[in-house]
Amino acid sequence: MCGIVGYIGNKQALPILVQGLRDLEYRGYDSAGICLLHENKIERVRAVGKIDNLVGKLKDSNYPGTLGIAHTRWATHGGVTEENAHPHVAMDGKLAIVHNGIIENYRELKKKLVKKGYKFTSDTDSEVLAHLIADYYSTLPQPLPSQPSHEASAGTAREGNSSPLRGEDKGGGENTLANAVRRALSDVRGTYGLLAVHADHPDQIIAARLGSPLVVGVAEGEHYIASDVTPMLAYTKQVTFLDDGEVAEISRDNLRISNLKDELITKGTMQIDWDQAKAQKGGYEHFMLKEIMEQPTVFEDAIRGRLDMEEGTAHLGGLNISEDQLRDLKRINIISGGTAYYAGLVGKYAFERLAQVPCEVDFSSEFRYRDPIVDKKTLVYAVSQSGETADTIMAVREAKRKGAHVRGIINVVGSTIARETKAGSYIHAGLEMAVASTKAYTNMVALLLLNALQLGRLKHVNVATGKRFLESLLEIPGKMNEILKQAENIKKIAKKYAHYKNMFFLGRGVNYPVALEGSLKLKEISYIHSEGYAGGEMKHGPLALVSEDFPVVAILTRNQLFEKMKSNIMEARARGARTLIIASEDDEEAKEVADDIIFVPKTMELLEPLLNTIPLQLFAYYIAVNLGRDVDRPRNLAKSVTVE
Ligand code: G6P
Repeated sequence: MCGIVGYIGNKQALPILVQGLRDLEYRGYDSAGICLLHENKIERVRAVGKIDNLVGKLKDSNYPGTLGIAHTRWATHGGVTEENAHPHVAMDGKLAIVHNGIIENYRELKKKLVKKGYKFTSDTDSEVLAHLIADYYSTLPQPLPSQPSHEASAGTAREGNSSPLRGEDKGGGENTLANAVRRALSDVRGTYGLLAVHADHPDQIIAARLGSPLVVGVAEGEHYIASDVTPMLAYTKQVTFLDDGEVAEISRDNLRISNLKDELITKGTMQIDWDQAKAQKGGYEHFMLKEIMEQPTVFEDAIRGRLDMEEGTAHLGGLNISEDQLRDLKRINIISGGTAYYAGLVGKYAFERLAQVPCEVDFSSEFRYRDPIVDKKTLVYAVSQSGETADTIMAVREAKRKGAHVRGIINVVGSTIARETKAGSYIHAGLEMAVASTKAYTNMVALLLLNALQLGRLKHVNVATGKRFLESLLEIPGKMNEILKQAENIKKIAKKYAHYKNMFFLGRGVNYPVALEGSLKLKEISYIHSEGYAGGEMKHGPLALVSEDFPVVAILTRNQLFEKMKSNIMEARARGARTLIIASEDDEEAKEVADDIIFVPKTMELLEPLLNTIPLQLFAYYIAVNLGRDVDRPRNLAKSVTVE
């Protein structure tokens, strides 16, 4: 979703900002813009479409400014036009902002500003912020205009990177721009990640956050600001995550954080251990393929140090709940969205089978609004790759309000959900860049399985069963590799299916969520209409759609539902459907119902999703490549959805 980048330091800002926007491309966007500040003047360039369009419009690629802000926009209010792209500049041309989030009361604010004579040039909610801040700015007592002083400030003595605050507290009352931002934001209802700059303040970027993530990267004589850490990985690993309600006054040598009432907040930096190499494609054509191929390795990262082979259980350090409380749980809820939701559905099978605790899985966007019945005997798992999905953040808050134990299963270290849940497990999938999630899914499933095993061992599961489970888990990376070796074969099969307009994905039991995830992968990156269904449900309606133009991809591995699933596939074949079957290795019987077949190694039934999803990821990937789609950045979608 929208991405923000800001830089203030002693280097030329333009290349840093352009690269930063490219680093954020993976989040999804439809237009982009940059604003640079030099010699008390603001220069703005905006363009619809790719970052390259923006670069093409830059008159001077050597623009000398050392301070700037930039933005990739994913349209919410107002169409995809240059006028609606950020940065938005106030009427006097001196103040510019970039904004992520939604200003809910923008109509009433706009009305007031229009009455005062402010002229709007876009259809966005964000533009009100530019005028509103400018309006407050004009009413506040002005400090003496500051001179561009970046050269002078270079090398100024400062504390080490890990210090909570740098320099003295020179913000607050005397900072007109920050005060104008504070006042404007006090009038606002909605969410924001905001950067503001002013031509008369060439030493300053003001950042503020409520609901939309912002990270400040701290380095010698410079600060990087962005929606996530990717744009700063090349320069610094020391970062501070802004929390909701915080305002940061950022100069080259100073970072002052306060709240809307200007009360000082002291917080430290944290070390990010991802490196920039992980944000590169490493020889693969797309991030998605790279991330699919990484699954055996990152799966090992997910389980490393968490298996107790002796006791046949899992150790999940950060759970922060006593064994007695775990035994006493009456209910488990899993909240998530997108691919994380399908990982959650696999978790349901595991919790109910291993721990025998009723488990419900909700889309986060539904959970909060359905008056969920949760209490202190409920454990809620918030599953999210980014840890920034607005729906899931809101659902977490709702569950906490109702007194449930809430735990995160999260990939991005330091993300909002990770911080707000304060307990849970990181999935250690590493940086995931493709919009379509693959390796994060596998690792979410891995962590849910470990949580279920741990709970199961506290209740009904005996040590021998626990050990068998863990032994099977340890075999998973090798088995994943066997599937990945078949990529060329899957590519050939995918070619045969690329021309279809519709497709079914069928599974039963633990493979039902796998079918749903396979279907999601296909539709999001290839734009082919596909439906994921429980095999047994076809006869209650969807079978009416099946014909020779509507092929079926079905998971028919050797488990307790093999016979039933096979019958469901035969029903579809009897109506002319072409079938692609995911079957257990050497299964001759599965061939009987297959036009095309992909074999996967056998494993315990509960672990099947860890393997069976992989051929479907590759299938979707190669179809999308075949159709010439923008695989890593599918149209209309965003990697991290920070609006509800
Ligand atoms: C977006 C992404 C999906 C992702 C979903 C949930 O829709 O495009 O790939 O699964 O958000 O994201 P999360 O970060 O919460 O796992």
